[in-house]
Amino acid sequence: MNTLSPSLDISLEKAAALLKAGGVVAFPTETVYGLGADAWNPDAVAQIFTLKGRPPDNPLIVHVSSLGMVDKLAAEVNEDALRLMAEFWPGPLALIFPKRAEVLDIVTAGLNTVAVRMPDHPVPLRLIHETGPLAAPSANTSGRPSPTRSDHVVQDFEDRVPVLEGGVCQYGLESTVLDLSEKPYTILRPGHITQSAIEHILGMPVRVTRQTQERSTDELAPKSPGMKYSHYAPDAGVRWMTPQELQRTQALLASTLYLVHRDREQILPVPSGVTLVHYHQNYQEMARDLYDRFRMADLQRFSEVAIEPFHAETAEQTEALHNRIRKAIG
Ligand code: TXA
Ligand code: MG
Repeated sequence: MNTLSPSLDISLEKAAALLKAGGVVAFPTETVYGLGADAWNPDAVAQIFTLKGRPPDNPLIVHVSSLGMVDKLAAEVNEDALRLMAEFWPGPLALIFPKRAEVLDIVTAGLNTVAVRMPDHPVPLRLIHETGPLAAPSANTSGRPSPTRSDHVVQDFEDRVPVLEGGVCQYGLESTVLDLSEKPYTILRPGHITQSAIEHILGMPVRVTRQTQERSTDELAPKSPGMKYSHYAPDAGVRWMTPQELQRTQALLASTLYLVHRDREQILPVPSGVTLVHYHQNYQEMARDLYDRFRMADLQRFSEVAIEPFHAETAEQTEALHNRIRKAIG
């Protein structure tokens, strides 16, 4: 699928040349699209913050295509890290290491750690092989949902950012972020790579941050700076809603987009003004689709996105999706 206008849709060779010259390029990954710049070029990285309107105290993940690149970024890569990389890379797991002195402050927001990940997608792997490590946050303007398709990038940046086309992102949720810089290791952001999968490989328990609780006790130095910023919610907001509550929305002028995870027969009668989306118990499909629905809700001027309370197959899948939904609810 190619939805880009010819002027924005660039070749890999062109993208590599732009990046080497200090430019910014959006590229696909298996999670969401990234907005990349040469991790060793402070002026290039500064453009990412300007373009996104991103607060300067929110650090970036550095994307690599080889383990050799990790050695240039991380001051220490221990046995645990090697095991995780062997098992899950390339893949949706960002690892936080103590950083080498050469890593730019603008990339790490002045922290003494650096987040690194190897995306599981041929386009960025080939690109980074050409350019070297790329600092890249999700390719949305600050406060918008992460882009899961190239046209989402264009919605946010119009013609200001060239985009490498890569179709729809496989997972649709951002990577798991695991802090290996101190023990106990801590998951700062849940994602497709789960706590139990990580614990199984490491043979030890890891913690999961409860972001909102830790923030109040650690206001000045949040462990994952990005988590303190408000996230996107469609104009009328997102909320949980049971089918019973849905029936009662009849009287409202509201137009409701109602997302249903479980496999069920039609909710009858569907009140007027309600559009149903069924995921038939398909967690992957719901994760892949969620941010696109949020964007669509605004484009089509729905007054609310309501989500039927659900549990996915595993508690960890449930938590990864609930985490993003809670942020959208705000
Ligand atoms: O799936 C992904 O990770 C996507 C694709 C493009 O790779 N990227 C992404 O980047 O989601 P971003 O910038 O939207 O989210 C990165 C998260 C933020 O919450 C940030 O605060 C955190 O990782 N982070 C980055 N470096 C960190 C560090 N050194 N210590 C703690 N948290 C860090
Ligand atoms: Mg982001």
